[in-house]
Amino acid sequence: MMHPVKRTLVTTALPYANGPVHLGHLAGVYLPADIYVRYKRLKGEDIIHIGGSDEHGVPITITAEKEGISPQDVVDRYHRMNLDAFGKCGISFDYYGRTSSPGHHETAKEFFLEIEKKGIFLRKTEKQFFDVEAGRFLSDRYVTGTCPICGNTEANGDQCEQCGTHLSPTELLNPKSKLSNATPELRETMHWYFPLGKFQEALEAYVASHEHDWRPNVVNYTRTWLKQGLNDRAITRDLSWGIQVPLDDPEALGKVLYVWFDAVLGYISFTRQWAEAAGNASLWKAYWQDPSSRIVHFIGKDNVVFHTLMFPAILMAWNEGRQSGVYNLADNVPASEFMNFEGRKFSKSRNYAVYLGEFLEKFPADTLRYSIAMNYPENKDTDFSWQDFQNRTNGELADTLGNFIKRSVDFTNSRFEGKVPHACSDEEWNTLGIDWHETLEKLDRAFEEFHFREAASLGMDIARAANRFLTESEPWKVIKTDRAAAAKTMALSLNLCHALALALYPVIPETAGRIRSMLGLGGSIEERVAGGVSLFSGLLSPQLELGHRLREQSEILFTKIEDADIEPELKKIEHLLAETERREAGAAAERLTIKPEISFDDFQKVDLRAATVLSAEKVKKAGKLLKLQLKVGPETRQVLAGVAEHYTPEEMVGKQVVLVANLAERTIRGEISQGMILAMEGQEGRLFLLEPSGSEINGKQIQ
Ligand code: MF3
Ligand code: ZN
Repeated sequence: MMHPVKRTLVTTALPYANGPVHLGHLAGVYLPADIYVRYKRLKGEDIIHIGGSDEHGVPITITAEKEGISPQDVVDRYHRMNLDAFGKCGISFDYYGRTSSPGHHETAKEFFLEIEKKGIFLRKTEKQFFDVEAGRFLSDRYVTGTCPICGNTEANGDQCEQCGTHLSPTELLNPKSKLSNATPELRETMHWYFPLGKFQEALEAYVASHEHDWRPNVVNYTRTWLKQGLNDRAITRDLSWGIQVPLDDPEALGKVLYVWFDAVLGYISFTRQWAEAAGNASLWKAYWQDPSSRIVHFIGKDNVVFHTLMFPAILMAWNEGRQSGVYNLADNVPASEFMNFEGRKFSKSRNYAVYLGEFLEKFPADTLRYSIAMNYPENKDTDFSWQDFQNRTNGELADTLGNFIKRSVDFTNSRFEGKVPHACSDEEWNTLGIDWHETLEKLDRAFEEFHFREAASLGMDIARAANRFLTESEPWKVIKTDRAAAAKTMALSLNLCHALALALYPVIPETAGRIRSMLGLGGSIEERVAGGVSLFSGLLSPQLELGHRLREQSEILFTKIEDADIEPELKKIEHLLAETERREAGAAAERLTIKPEISFDDFQKVDLRAATVLSAEKVKKAGKLLKLQLKVGPETRQVLAGVAEHYTPEEMVGKQVVLVANLAERTIRGEISQGMILAMEGQEGRLFLLEPSGSEINGKQIQ
């Protein structure tokens, strides 16, 4: 246990500076990282936490255009807001950078040029939508149109929000530019591509080497990508906001680096900036290039392949053929699942979220940190609710931990002149019903292996045991007949207070500091560990000596949360949900608007046929799609239908359906779709197939 590690660099996914961070972000990425970092510091290890704002990308320019301000204004606002919220929450970044900083632009350009110089990039010309009115190429998100799968008329060029299908803009029916609402035209444009496939083998070996220490979800998800074979990825975009392609080449004009190529390199530039600010400009290399250092990326599950495939491949491309300046690849990528809120997904676009900054205006950071740690979405999605937050704060933090600390300090102050009244031996320390060696080992493993919910629970278990010990020892009675026995109880209790401050410090750092201060211990934990000593092993033996003086005043560590405190929050959710329902109902009513009139001849152009489903199977990576083979008279047709969430493949087989038989063939998700089957939406978004009844109707025309 506790094998010494030289240095660790922790990074956290750079949140887009396009909105305030919410509790889901905190739960998945920033709190777990902070717990980990604080634990390592407590052990006296050399560790830095680097994060910052992701300030490029299309959503930021969309916000700017919507509000009539510049993208720089947008990122300035949210960078400040998020930095401030993280500060209030005790997320202890060593550096929080910005991808719009000149230093970051330099790093990103350096990487681009190195890979370009090695001739690794490909240049490919492809057709892309161009808005003639705006005079601009449209990236995926700037195109909207009708979803070919579900008919949603407001699908985005990259994804349909209604049915969840990933799309490319050219798959949309009736595409429109979000800038001008004009119909865009396809024009040729050249982009730089990163040939991920070139690194397939090296990436496979990399992932295989971490098969046992990475989370199963991370390994499996990455392997799914590897199994499908890695494709070339465009790493430039036609945009003005971002990092210009750093080439003196007319083809580079108006092109910026793709936000993902740019953002992951932020980890490196911000470490450089940290080192500069620390007055030792080359210190960053110790974290990125010394082979004995470790790198750990904390991210959410939606960012996995960018950190297990893309970023490593970029570093491999940089490292190729180098003797020095070789970058380390991440040692671990603890990606979290999602934490939902009151049973629903956080959603920025629907404004269904609790923002971190707002939350901390009402409740203290440590109550939030503890509750979220106890709901850490380590390997499955979890749920955060106001009720759970109230229960944990009142029952666990206030009644168990807070109460124990206050009773111990108060009783010692009133009956033992505020001094530790007994010298505890190691033997006494180990007769409390807690096996300290085992506890220490379990805690160490929980923190080291990213089981933060377990780590927080173990801490609370100690508090429960301590509370029980004090209650059952009844020093307030015993003192009347046996002062020495009561003194021993109090000395052990005070040492337990100290142990709790250490064990729970990574989760509730501010409270740990207050406990220490009540115990009369000078200097913060942060100051004490600065010298590189492990305070954590202080759990193994009682630390407070006979006669040590406590602070005179005790304090209440946690204020209970009354029903009245969370009522407005519950009302707010009710209100939000009602609003969403109203909006959805309104949208449904709008869909009733009848489309423009067509002639009988127009209608006659549509060839509808009764068809029979011969077979059905799911389409990989397209959860909503079923691939159907249909019998239509003498022919067999393949049709992709967005019905997978409503019908199983088994249910589909044998059904008679209505086929639009003369619809132009399309490719969806790399599969040919020869027509479309008719379905309609019913109650609560449930889809119903149109199923013509009758015998021997297969292949017959419907008119
Ligand atoms: N801003 C992106 C997101 O939040 C990317 C974060 S990870 C990074 O999903 F390393 F690329 F910044
Ligand atoms: Zn759709």
